[in-house]
Amino acid sequence: MAAHVQHILDEGLAALAATNDPVELENSKARYIGKEGAITALLRQLATLPPEEKKTFGATVNQAKQAFEAALAARREELAAEKLARQLAAEALDVTLPGRGRAAGGLHPVTLVQQRIEALFRSIGFEVADGPEIETDFHNFEALNIPKDHPARAMQDTFYVEGGEVLRTHTSPIQVRYMLNNQPPIKIVAPGRVYRVDSDATHSPMFHQMEGLWVDEGVSFADLKSVIVDFLRNFFEDDTLQVRFRPSFFPFTEPSAEIDVMGKRGWLEVGGCGMVHPNVLRNVNIDPEKYTGFAFGIGLDRFAMLYYGVNDLRLFFENDLSFLGQFKQA
Ligand code: FA5
Ligand code: MG
Repeated sequence: MAAHVQHILDEGLAALAATNDPVELENSKARYIGKEGAITALLRQLATLPPEEKKTFGATVNQAKQAFEAALAARREELAAEKLARQLAAEALDVTLPGRGRAAGGLHPVTLVQQRIEALFRSIGFEVADGPEIETDFHNFEALNIPKDHPARAMQDTFYVEGGEVLRTHTSPIQVRYMLNNQPPIKIVAPGRVYRVDSDATHSPMFHQMEGLWVDEGVSFADLKSVIVDFLRNFFEDDTLQVRFRPSFFPFTEPSAEIDVMGKRGWLEVGGCGMVHPNVLRNVNIDPEKYTGFAFGIGLDRFAMLYYGVNDLRLFFENDLSFLGQFKQA
């Protein structure tokens, strides 16, 4: 090959080898075999040569051009392969890394206790009833034998809602709603949130109660005591659990009692109960000469405290996941 053709080819091959950049590579192509390229210029010289030189020189330049094109194609492939390798390295997944995992959620301890109590009462024939958290004065007070000027209204500090309705202060209005729509025999429990202006280690402004109501012919205070003591001993799985009925007053029951349970720190009040007051039965169109009944209202949060050994009620409502995560099925 003529020396100066070889020289141009060597330069061209060196330029291809020197770049890692595809754009630069295409520029080199233009500089050597493009319209104004160095090797293209050599081909153009052919026309000026005498016929005897044309043949050998033509063959030489064509060889040089083919060598350049072959090197260009090879370099293109190399650069494409490098690019792919870089991309694969950057996007590589390490399948041996441990997975991130998801923490399993759980039910709130008060919900677990509520479900456990519902199941116990269902097993002795009670149904579960429900009612609204925003109540009328009639359902929360009036029908329960608590007239407007009655001092018993001061027993429960009430949150009032615009329009004269109240955030229910207890689950007892569910009794009223149920009895207005059903005649005896009635056997229900009714869980739900209730609200009072009240806050310390054993009182929360929002807490949970479960109402119980059994109305039929011949229901007595002895039935009340046996159902509640049985329920408590089953709930706490303790056949010798001490339960105390402490004489008390509620406008909607007569006689009335508070229910105390012996806990690790002494007696704890878990609810109130009594025989449904004849005035309440009359208010919901049930004949008090024919029917009697008992009712109770228990604090579900207090049950959860006793059941799980939690000493501060407020822990249940602070939504600290490390606290809430400790409770399993009740
Ligand atoms: C009542 O609310 C009555 N309605 C219960 C009742 C129903 C009596 C049917 C008779 C017949 P009391 O205000 O005592 O009663 O509340 C019942 C229970 O709710 C209490 O024993 C206590 O366990 C729980 N409790 C009351 N206030 C709070 C509070 N602020 N925080 C947590 N628990 C409370
Ligand atoms: Mg009380």
